[in-house]
Amino acid sequence: MTQDELKDAVAAAAIDEIRPHLARDTVLGIGTGSTASRFIDRLAELRLDFAGAVASSEASAKRLRDHGIDVLELNSVGTLPFYIDGADEVNAHLHMIKGGGGALTREKIVAACSQRFICIADASKRVERLGNFPLPVEVIPMARSYVARELVKLGADPVYREGVVTDNGNQILDCFEFPIDDPVAMEARLNGIVGVVTNGLFAARGADVLLLGTDQGVERLTPQ
Ligand code: 5RP
Repeated sequence: MTQDELKDAVAAAAIDEIRPHLARDTVLGIGTGSTASRFIDRLAELRLDFAGAVASSEASAKRLRDHGIDVLELNSVGTLPFYIDGADEVNAHLHMIKGGGGALTREKIVAACSQRFICIADASKRVERLGNFPLPVEVIPMARSYVARELVKLGADPVYREGVVTDNGNQILDCFEFPIDDPVAMEARLNGIVGVVTNGLFAARGADVLLLGTDQGVERLTPQ
Protein backbone atom coordinates (compact mmCIF):
# COMPACT_ATOMS: atom_id res chain seq x y z
CA MET A 1 0.00 0.00 0.00
CA THR A 2 1.13 3.56 -0.58
CA GLN A 3 1.60 5.98 2.30
CA ASP A 4 -1.55 7.82 1.18
CA GLU A 5 -3.55 4.58 1.23
CA LEU A 6 -2.27 3.85 4.75
CA LYS A 7 -3.32 7.35 5.85
CA ASP A 8 -6.79 6.73 4.38
CA ALA A 9 -7.01 3.42 6.22
CA VAL A 10 -6.21 4.94 9.62
CA ALA A 11 -8.60 7.83 9.02
CA ALA A 12 -11.36 5.28 8.39
CA ALA A 13 -10.33 3.32 11.49
CA ALA A 14 -10.55 6.47 13.60
CA ILE A 15 -14.09 7.04 12.37
CA ASP A 16 -14.97 3.49 13.46
CA GLU A 17 -13.31 4.17 16.83
CA ILE A 18 -15.36 7.27 17.67
CA ARG A 19 -18.66 6.59 15.85
CA PRO A 20 -20.30 4.57 18.68
CA HIS A 21 -19.57 7.41 21.14
CA LEU A 22 -20.99 10.34 19.16
CA ALA A 23 -24.02 12.20 20.50
CA ARG A 24 -25.80 15.35 19.36
CA ASP A 25 -23.84 17.44 21.90
CA THR A 26 -20.41 15.88 21.25
CA VAL A 27 -17.58 18.28 20.39
CA LEU A 28 -14.45 16.69 18.91
CA GLY A 29 -10.87 17.93 18.98
CA ILE A 30 -9.29 17.81 15.54
CA GLY A 31 -5.62 17.92 14.59
CA THR A 32 -3.64 19.15 11.64
CA GLY A 33 -1.78 17.62 8.72
CA SER A 34 -2.43 15.32 5.79
CA THR A 35 -3.62 12.38 7.92
CA ALA A 36 -5.91 14.58 10.03
CA SER A 37 -7.24 16.11 6.80
CA ARG A 38 -8.26 12.68 5.56
CA PHE A 39 -10.03 12.12 8.86
CA ILE A 40 -11.87 15.45 8.48
CA ASP A 41 -13.01 14.46 4.99
CA ARG A 42 -14.51 11.23 6.34
CA LEU A 43 -16.00 13.00 9.36
CA ALA A 44 -18.16 15.04 6.99
CA GLU A 45 -20.43 12.00 6.49
CA LEU A 46 -21.22 12.07 10.22
CA ARG A 47 -21.70 15.82 10.57
CA LEU A 48 -25.34 15.51 11.65
CA ASP A 49 -24.39 13.08 14.44
CA PHE A 50 -22.35 15.48 16.60
CA ALA A 51 -22.28 19.17 17.56
CA GLY A 52 -19.01 20.37 16.09
CA ALA A 53 -15.27 20.48 16.48
CA VAL A 54 -12.42 22.46 17.97
CA ALA A 55 -9.59 22.77 15.45
CA SER A 56 -5.87 22.86 16.18
CA SER A 57 -5.12 25.17 13.24
CA GLU A 58 -6.70 27.68 10.92
CA ALA A 59 -6.18 25.20 8.05
CA SER A 60 -8.14 22.45 9.80
CA ALA A 61 -10.83 24.95 10.84
CA LYS A 62 -11.30 25.94 7.21
CA ARG A 63 -11.45 22.31 6.07
CA LEU A 64 -14.06 21.52 8.74
CA ARG A 65 -16.18 24.54 7.78
CA ASP A 66 -15.90 23.66 4.10
CA HIS A 67 -17.54 20.33 4.98
CA GLY A 68 -20.33 22.06 6.89
CA ILE A 69 -18.98 21.10 10.31
CA ASP A 70 -19.34 23.77 13.04
CA VAL A 71 -16.03 25.02 14.43
CA LEU A 72 -16.22 26.05 18.07
CA GLU A 73 -13.91 28.08 20.29
CA LEU A 74 -12.06 26.01 22.86
CA ASN A 75 -12.97 28.56 25.54
CA SER A 76 -16.67 27.99 24.93
CA VAL A 77 -16.61 24.23 25.42
CA GLY A 78 -15.62 21.97 28.29
CA THR A 79 -13.54 18.81 28.20
CA LEU A 80 -13.57 17.11 24.81
CA PRO A 81 -14.11 13.34 24.64
CA PHE A 82 -11.62 12.79 21.79
CA TYR A 83 -8.67 14.45 20.11
CA ILE A 84 -7.73 12.90 16.76
CA ASP A 85 -4.43 13.83 15.15
CA GLY A 86 -1.42 12.53 13.27
CA ALA A 87 2.23 12.48 14.34
CA ASP A 88 5.67 12.84 12.84
CA GLU A 89 7.10 10.10 15.07
CA VAL A 90 5.58 7.86 17.73
CA ASN A 91 7.27 5.36 20.06
CA ALA A 92 6.03 2.33 22.01
CA HIS A 93 4.91 4.52 24.94
CA LEU A 94 2.87 6.58 22.45
CA HIS A 95 5.09 9.58 23.10
CA MET A 96 5.23 11.61 19.90
CA ILE A 97 7.06 14.25 17.97
CA LYS A 98 4.53 16.58 16.37
CA GLY A 99 4.61 19.97 14.71
CA GLY A 100 5.93 19.14 11.27
CA GLY A 101 3.03 21.26 10.03
CA GLY A 102 3.79 24.01 12.55
CA ALA A 103 0.60 23.61 14.59
CA LEU A 104 2.23 22.12 17.69
CA THR A 105 1.09 24.66 20.27
CA ARG A 106 -2.59 24.58 19.43
CA GLU A 107 -2.37 20.80 19.00
CA LYS A 108 -0.96 20.46 22.49
CA ILE A 109 -3.61 22.75 23.96
CA VAL A 110 -6.53 20.91 22.37
CA ALA A 111 -4.97 17.55 23.30
CA ALA A 112 -4.66 18.73 26.92
CA CYS A 113 -8.39 19.45 26.97
CA SER A 114 -9.30 16.01 25.63
CA GLN A 115 -10.03 12.78 27.48
CA ARG A 116 -8.64 10.48 24.79
CA PHE A 117 -5.94 11.22 22.24
CA ILE A 118 -6.29 8.99 19.19
CA CYS A 119 -3.13 9.12 17.11
CA ILE A 120 -3.51 8.15 13.46
CA ALA A 121 -0.34 7.41 11.54
CA ASP A 122 1.12 5.29 8.79
CA ALA A 123 3.78 2.74 9.71
CA SER A 124 6.68 5.01 8.70
CA LYS A 125 5.99 7.12 11.82
CA ARG A 126 6.60 4.31 14.31
CA VAL A 127 10.11 4.54 15.81
CA GLU A 128 12.05 2.97 18.67
CA ARG A 129 13.60 6.27 19.76
CA LEU A 130 12.26 9.76 19.03
CA GLY A 131 14.48 12.33 17.35
CA ASN A 132 15.26 11.28 13.83
CA PHE A 133 12.54 13.70 12.74
CA PRO A 134 13.72 17.25 13.61
CA LEU A 135 11.95 18.37 16.77
CA PRO A 136 10.00 21.64 16.27
CA VAL A 137 10.19 24.33 18.94
CA GLU A 138 7.82 27.31 18.69
CA VAL A 139 9.47 30.52 19.92
CA ILE A 140 8.53 34.12 20.55
CA PRO A 141 10.24 35.90 17.60
CA MET A 142 12.48 38.19 19.68
CA ALA A 143 13.80 35.19 21.62
CA ARG A 144 14.71 33.07 18.58
CA SER A 145 18.50 33.49 18.71
CA TYR A 146 18.65 33.12 22.48
CA VAL A 147 16.57 29.94 22.38
CA ALA A 148 18.72 28.60 19.55
CA ARG A 149 21.86 29.07 21.66
CA GLU A 150 20.23 27.26 24.58
CA LEU A 151 19.21 24.39 22.28
CA VAL A 152 22.80 24.04 21.08
CA LYS A 153 23.88 23.70 24.72
CA LEU A 154 21.48 20.74 24.98
CA GLY A 155 23.11 19.09 21.97
CA ALA A 156 20.64 20.04 19.23
CA ASP A 157 21.35 21.62 15.87
CA PRO A 158 18.47 24.14 15.63
CA VAL A 159 17.48 25.49 12.22
CA TYR A 160 15.14 28.45 11.78
CA ARG A 161 12.12 27.44 9.65
CA GLU A 162 12.39 30.51 7.44
CA GLY A 163 9.25 32.14 6.10
CA VAL A 164 6.96 30.28 8.53
CA VAL A 165 4.78 32.20 10.97
CA THR A 166 2.59 30.05 13.21
CA ASP A 167 -1.13 30.65 13.73
CA ASN A 168 -0.02 32.33 16.98
CA GLY A 169 2.32 34.78 15.23
CA ASN A 170 5.48 33.00 16.35
CA GLN A 171 8.49 31.31 14.71
CA ILE A 172 9.78 27.74 14.67
CA LEU A 173 13.22 26.26 15.28
CA ASP A 174 13.64 22.66 14.07
CA CYS A 175 16.13 20.67 16.18
CA PHE A 176 18.21 18.34 14.00
CA GLU A 177 20.66 15.73 15.30
CA PHE A 178 18.71 15.46 18.54
CA PRO A 179 18.02 11.86 19.63
CA ILE A 180 15.76 11.87 22.69
CA ASP A 181 16.21 9.19 25.36
CA ASP A 182 13.82 10.62 27.95
CA PRO A 183 10.96 12.41 26.14
CA VAL A 184 9.08 13.36 29.34
CA ALA A 185 12.13 15.03 30.89
CA MET A 186 13.21 16.71 27.65
CA GLU A 187 9.71 18.08 27.01
CA ALA A 188 9.76 19.81 30.40
CA ARG A 189 13.37 20.97 29.99
CA LEU A 190 12.71 22.62 26.64
CA ASN A 191 9.56 24.28 27.89
CA GLY A 192 11.64 25.79 30.68
CA ILE A 193 13.74 27.86 28.27
CA VAL A 194 12.59 31.48 28.36
CA GLY A 195 11.05 32.41 25.03
CA VAL A 196 9.88 28.90 24.18
CA VAL A 197 6.13 28.77 23.64
CA THR A 198 6.08 25.00 23.44
CA ASN A 199 7.94 22.13 21.85
CA GLY A 200 6.80 19.26 19.66
CA LEU A 201 7.38 16.51 22.22
CA PHE A 202 4.02 15.11 23.26
CA ALA A 203 5.17 12.89 26.13
CA ALA A 204 3.75 14.23 29.40
CA ARG A 205 0.43 13.85 27.64
CA GLY A 206 0.98 11.23 24.96
CA ALA A 207 -1.60 9.38 22.91
CA ASP A 208 -4.01 6.91 24.50
CA VAL A 209 -4.51 4.89 21.33
CA LEU A 210 -2.42 4.57 18.18
CA LEU A 211 -4.11 3.46 14.98
CA LEU A 212 -1.13 2.46 12.87
CA GLY A 213 -1.52 1.79 9.18
CA THR A 214 0.54 -1.17 7.99
CA ASP A 215 0.50 -3.38 4.89
CA GLN A 216 -1.11 -6.05 7.06
CA GLY A 217 -3.94 -3.74 8.15
CA VAL A 218 -4.57 -1.14 10.85
CA GLU A 219 -3.05 -2.06 14.20
CA ARG A 220 -4.67 -0.70 17.37
CA LEU A 221 -1.94 -0.06 19.94
CA THR A 222 -2.03 1.28 23.50
CA PRO A 223 0.94 2.65 25.51
CA GLN A 224 3.50 0.07 26.71
C1 5RP B 1 1.19 19.15 12.35
C2 5RP B 1 1.42 17.82 12.95
C3 5RP B 1 1.02 16.64 12.16
O1 5RP B 1 0.20 15.82 12.92
C4 5RP B 1 2.24 15.88 11.76
O2 5RP B 1 3.13 16.75 11.11
C5 5RP B 1 1.92 14.69 10.85
O3 5RP B 1 1.47 15.19 9.62
P1 5RP B 1 1.02 14.23 8.45
O4 5RP B 1 -0.24 13.57 8.86
O5 5RP B 1 0.84 15.17 7.26
O6 5RP B 1 2.13 13.25 8.20
O7 5RP B 1 1.91 17.66 14.04
O8 5RP B 1 1.72 20.18 13.16
